[in-house]
Amino acid sequence: YEADRSRPLDINIELPEIKIGIYFATWWALNVVFNIYNKKVLNVFPYPWLTSTLSLAAGSLMMLISWVTRVADAPKTDFEFWKTLFPVAVAHTIGHVAATVSMSKVAVSFTHIIKSGEPAFSVLVSRFLLGEAFPLPVYLSLLPIIGGCALSAATELNFNMTGFMGAMISNLAFVFRNIFSKKGMKGKSVSGMNYYACLSMLSLLILTPFAIAVEGPQLWAVGWQKAVSQIGPNFVWWVVAQSVFYHLYNQVSYMSLDQISPLTFSIGNTMKRISVIVSSIIIFHTPVQPVNALGAAVAILGTFLYSQVYSLLSLRNLGGTNSSEWP
Ligand code: 3PG
Repeated sequence: YEADRSRPLDINIELPEIKIGIYFATWWALNVVFNIYNKKVLNVFPYPWLTSTLSLAAGSLMMLISWVTRVADAPKTDFEFWKTLFPVAVAHTIGHVAATVSMSKVAVSFTHIIKSGEPAFSVLVSRFLLGEAFPLPVYLSLLPIIGGCALSAATELNFNMTGFMGAMISNLAFVFRNIFSKKGMKGKSVSGMNYYACLSMLSLLILTPFAIAVEGPQLWAVGWQKAVSQIGPNFVWWVVAQSVFYHLYNQVSYMSLDQISPLTFSIGNTMKRISVIVSSIIIFHTPVQPVNALGAAVAILGTFLYSQVYSLLSLRNLGGTNSSEWP
């Protein structure tokens, strides 16, 4: 695991700092807006299966329009591509709907604190299901992540088991999404933007029948009327905003995967959670106890530590810029 100094470091093939800065600022800003509108909608319209479906539908529609109008080039795909994308889409769908169910039950900040534990899931799944061994420092770096998330969960004022489990399931599903896309994307030439577009479309097909079965048009119609009578006609714009911004932040994050190293991406994702946690606490006046905030800080610091330890120990193995090579 000693770094191979004869090979150029990933940093050499990255974009100039200013461009990375622009990517990150856009990604975080879009993500914050998505999270705020998503929660505003869920507060008055608690149907996360429908809102998750609408996010995927908005993205699919936007991308179809941009392909038809040639704003973006449509990808050249074959049956093999869609076949390898299928398990990725199943994991993406589960991860997305589970996170949205979580956010419908607990504060946005709490969902994201638990979601900052994703690296721990990644290492544990790789270790116990795939049999990959890691050096001791990697396991040790997981302790603050797990400890911080546990402390935060134990002291969360509005703890709810469904909300907690939703975020945990989302973590697990996204680990599998990364593992499957790592297998499926090797050697493929579809851009990050189009890859995410195809992922949205397939996920939409998978999710729609489940959303109808779990919630269904009758509940949606009653809920919608209630929400409109409470908020007014502007409610529809909240739904549009959460749907469109969900696609946009994911699109930017997948586009940035083409341009930056796994380490930079992983740090960017952690910073994104900090922006979401802080802004949602301010906007929704979420009550936070000092010990709860301490847990969040330790967990987030842990993810930084993990990415640093992992990068120091495995530079030799990190050849590409695709974060799917990052466990
Ligand atoms: C979702 O709804 O898919 C989650 O909010 C995604 O979370 P993440 O992109 O921040 O991991």
